[in-house]
Amino acid sequence: MAERRIFVCNHQKSGVGDDVAKALKKELKAQGVKSVVVDGEKVTTQIQTCNCLDRCKNCKKGPGAALVIYPSGVYFNNAQPKDAARIVQALATGLFPDK
Ligand code: FES
Repeated sequence: MAERRIFVCNHQKSGVGDDVAKALKKELKAQGVKSVVVDGEKVTTQIQTCNCLDRCKNCKKGPGAALVIYPSGVYFNNAQPKDAARIVQALATGLFPDK
């Protein structure tokens, strides 16, 4: 079984990172893609908050949070809760390929 992980910075004063993480978890369930089969292998996606991802220029000022998707290494510097559905959909459709 393989694993994808989305690390979301929650080091902003506003706490938007926690909201982004919650929205991503909710979308994974809503879209039914928390676990998917890719090339015959089960791939599970985990959402995890973390401190600074060194992408602070947008993240600290808001309105969004920085996040990174592993193993693809794709960063978003200003993700907001409203972006969760599109991020999860892109992940599920293979837009951010696992390396
Ligand atoms: S405070 Fe979020 S990346 Fe630095």
